[in-house]
Amino acid sequence: MLWASDLGFDIGTSKTTVYARGQGVAYSDESVIALSSRGGNTVAIGHNASGLARAEGAEAVVVRPIVAGTIADFAAASELLRQTMIRALGRRWLVGPTVVSAVPPGATSVERYTLQQALIKAGARRAFLVDASLAAALGAGFGVNQPAARMIVDIGAGSTNIGIVSGGAVLLSRSLRFGGQDLDEAIRRLVRRKFGLATTRESAEQIKIRVGSVARDLQKEPVSLDGVEVYGELFKNVSVPLDDVPDLLSRHVSLVASEIRWLLEDVSREHREDLMATGIALSGGTSRLRGIAGLMTEKLGIAASVVPNPAESVISGIGVVLQNPGRLRIDGGQFYASDQ
Ligand SMILES: Nc1ncnc2c1ncn2[C@@H]1O[C@H](COP(=O)(O)OP(=O)(O)OP(=O)(O)O)[C@@H](O)[C@H]1O
Ligand SMILES: [Mg+2]
Repeated sequence: MLWASDLGFDIGTSKTTVYARGQGVAYSDESVIALSSRGGNTVAIGHNASGLARAEGAEAVVVRPIVAGTIADFAAASELLRQTMIRALGRRWLVGPTVVSAVPPGATSVERYTLQQALIKAGARRAFLVDASLAAALGAGFGVNQPAARMIVDIGAGSTNIGIVSGGAVLLSRSLRFGGQDLDEAIRRLVRRKFGLATTRESAEQIKIRVGSVARDLQKEPVSLDGVEVYGELFKNVSVPLDDVPDLLSRHVSLVASEIRWLLEDVSREHREDLMATGIALSGGTSRLRGIAGLMTEKLGIAASVVPNPAESVISGIGVVLQNPGRLRIDGGQFYASDQ
């Protein structure tokens, strides 16, 4: 293959997804890379790499180079992106792909430059950056032909991106360092404090998904935790009542609601009226937390609902931009209706 097909990247804290132009999602796996502890060659990426973190005797350093949606380890991130590109394209290339990648709103110019350089180092010929909240909006169908203001809140694993868009342009957007991983961590602390049990991140995530309804009345049964570790001893099927979890999660989700309330203060009256009518759209993996839309609605007095396929909004929006990267405003904050 001489020319590589154009690719879109959603490089998330927990997961990287790649969209190939004219094809759709071509790759999706955890944002993890394992490097050999001697020499630093790549041993594995994705879930194979995170599996090595648990494997005994694996002589590998396991790195998660994306923290809160931003590159935290440049060398590991560019190598992960290079390996990802090879897998998404299926073979090598002579002329690298044009790449569109989402960047968190409010990223500094240093963070934007770092992301662009990581993509170029990984093999991209050129790299366009789109505001992640605009990508989520485009993916949810709030495009150039929708002049009414819309709000999209994408809650991922390490970051929450809030965007208010109109006609394919960002009016206001903001990124918070908050996501599903913070909920997992809060659950681990709660279980430790109340029951003296040390849970792994994975079991905390399972508790969140199973009983983690933010609406108090949804579920109050005890959950059984498998493979819980207490002072180095492994317990199977420990049953603990976790009726405090919904309240705990509700308190954390309130942080997002208060940030939204704050952002709304800067919106013009006309756009605020639009938003009251169109409501709040939730996307991202954490928008699948049971009861979250109801809680947002209750806290804000504006109807909130989860978009269809919430985990794919950002990558679908990137796919839209990939059709015509030249229509992207230079700062990634607007996608124009035509090439002029
Ligand atoms: N059913 C569910 N209930 C609650 N949380 C869920 C559910 N399914 C997935 N999640 C959470 O969603 C998060 C992953 O979301 P997503 O894939 O949008 O993150 P990301 O794009 O990798 O991260 P970010 O955008 O913050 O950089 C994880 O924290 C995961 O635990
Ligand atoms: Mg994301």
